[in-house]
Amino acid sequence: MKDLLTTLENRRTIREFTEEKIDEETIQKILDALMHSPTSMGLQQASLIRITDPMKKKEIAKVGNQEYIERVPELFIFIADHYRNFRLIRDNGRNYDTNSNVDIFLQGFTDAVILASNMVSVVESMDLGAFFIGSILNDTEKMIEILNLPKLTFPVVGVGFGHPNQNPQIKPKMPANLRVFENSYTYFENYKDKFKDYDEEMTTYYDLRDANRRVDSFSNQVYTKTMKSSPKRNEFLEIARKNSYKL
Ligand SMILES: Cc1cc2nc3c(=O)[nH]c(=O)nc-3n(C[C@H](O)[C@H](O)[C@H](O)COP(=O)(O)O)c2cc1C
Repeated sequence: MKDLLTTLENRRTIREFTEEKIDEETIQKILDALMHSPTSMGLQQASLIRITDPMKKKEIAKVGNQEYIERVPELFIFIADHYRNFRLIRDNGRNYDTNSNVDIFLQGFTDAVILASNMVSVVESMDLGAFFIGSILNDTEKMIEILNLPKLTFPVVGVGFGHPNQNPQIKPKMPANLRVFENSYTYFENYKDKFKDYDEEMTTYYDLRDANRRVDSFSNQVYTKTMKSSPKRNEFLEIARKNSYKL
């Protein structure tokens, strides 16, 4: 097992895996460790669903529009989950009608992301490879249907992992001085100039997803990716409201 610092310094997303399975004991160890994750107000307003049914994997791969999801040995979907606490309140004979607001929703969302992030770090420290899959949100309603989610839940992100079957380059990230500030926000005179070196460095990265081609500069990626919008992703709030959140 690698220590956390080494794990983070060497990490990169893995999307292709060998067929070797992860033994159940390891899975249980990972899941037991995850249960210790920090959680907003101690309320544990997030859950995870392990996807073992190949048909469901296929459906999720379709929602995410990424076929490698179908082949990943282990796939988990993390959800904001207020249903459990709602039931706990109701089954104790109390009324839970007023508090499923934006604050509570974001607490659950954050808890789910922390769980997912811890899962990725733990499995990477075991020399397994992992990916996050945010594009499950391409069609949230379909995800709710696939997972049979009750009211007061919302899918957040997926994580897949297994034994790596590819060896991608570590993706260059911007240097800390562009993202880490002290005491107050740091503004730069000219962002184009400030990002020149990082833009150049990014073009040395080969993206295995894109026919092994070099990628565009970071500044260009920011523009093209930010401008791209997915109509269904704009319906988040509506779908969360349909699922009984008061947002
Ligand atoms: C919340 C989250 C969602 C992500 N969703 C996707 C996704 O849907 N599809 C994908 O191919 N990569 C996804 N990624 C992976 C990012 O593209 C990747 O982390 C980023 O390009 C940096 O590369 P690296 O992880 O190799 O350092 C996601 C990452 C995060 C943190």
